[in-house]
Amino acid sequence: MVSKPNEEEFSFAVDISNVTKTFKIGKTTITVLKNLDFQCHENEFSIISGPSGSGKSTILTIIGGLTRVDEGSVNVLNHLLTEESITEESLAIFRSTYVGFVFQTGHLIDSLTVYENVLLPVNLAQRDEMDYKERAWDLLREFRLEDRAHSLPIMISGGEYQRTAFIRALILDPDLLLIDEPTSNQDKNTTETIIKKLEKLKGQRTIIVVTHDREIYPLADNIYIPVDGRLSLYQMDE
Ligand SMILES: Nc1ncnc2c1ncn2[C@@H]1O[C@H](COP(=O)(O)OP(=O)(O)OP(=O)(O)O)[C@@H](O)[C@H]1O
Ligand SMILES: [Mg+2]
Repeated sequence: MVSKPNEEEFSFAVDISNVTKTFKIGKTTITVLKNLDFQCHENEFSIISGPSGSGKSTILTIIGGLTRVDEGSVNVLNHLLTEESITEESLAIFRSTYVGFVFQTGHLIDSLTVYENVLLPVNLAQRDEMDYKERAWDLLREFRLEDRAHSLPIMISGGEYQRTAFIRALILDPDLLLIDEPTSNQDKNTTETIIKKLEKLKGQRTIIVVTHDREIYPLADNIYIPVDGRLSLYQMDE
């Protein structure tokens, strides 16, 4: 398991310090994040908003332990993800224990039904499916997916797909929610359902949402914009 530094040392839920991330494409190296710092407290609601390609999704995947950084330190819920000796397996355990991730493109498993996709984190965390059946059906009903529970992802609409991805991230009721553009390309109904759920979760969980949706902005304690590989604070009345 990821080492747990002494609680006093890291009082933030997420504490990223001096992070640099580059990607190599052929012979070219692009620097997406440069000396990035980001902190948020437990149960804080943060939004990251900004231009395409500025590194928003990359930041979420770094916080979720899915992407390794070139330099800097990443502490999430008192787990040091940048520890040199950390293994993929311990990162996977960290993710399935603490993180609910809604990917920008959903990433449902094509061969599993909506219901099975929602229960996937339960199986990955090796918990008993029976304990989560009722919660799964409650979430499916809340997000108007109960009639689609036995459909494969290919058979459902874009809005239904995104709602399935959203509730899959909630099934284990994780401490940290990382949500990438939950309402982009959604109809009014889906957007409202997702915003209502975010309102309920606000102050209860640590939440980081990447979004351009100004309807979500009032929920945020802080809004950040990537500028030259770093995050700067956005004034809400701008
Ligand atoms: N695995 C990868 N390999 C190579 N380049 C990558 C990889 N992931 C991201 N990038 C590049 O890093 C930059 C930042 O990507 P990222 O997906 O974080 O942007 P974003 O701010 O989320 O954009 P969008 O608003 O379009 O979703 C982009 O130029 C992208 O092409
Ligand atoms: Mg993105």
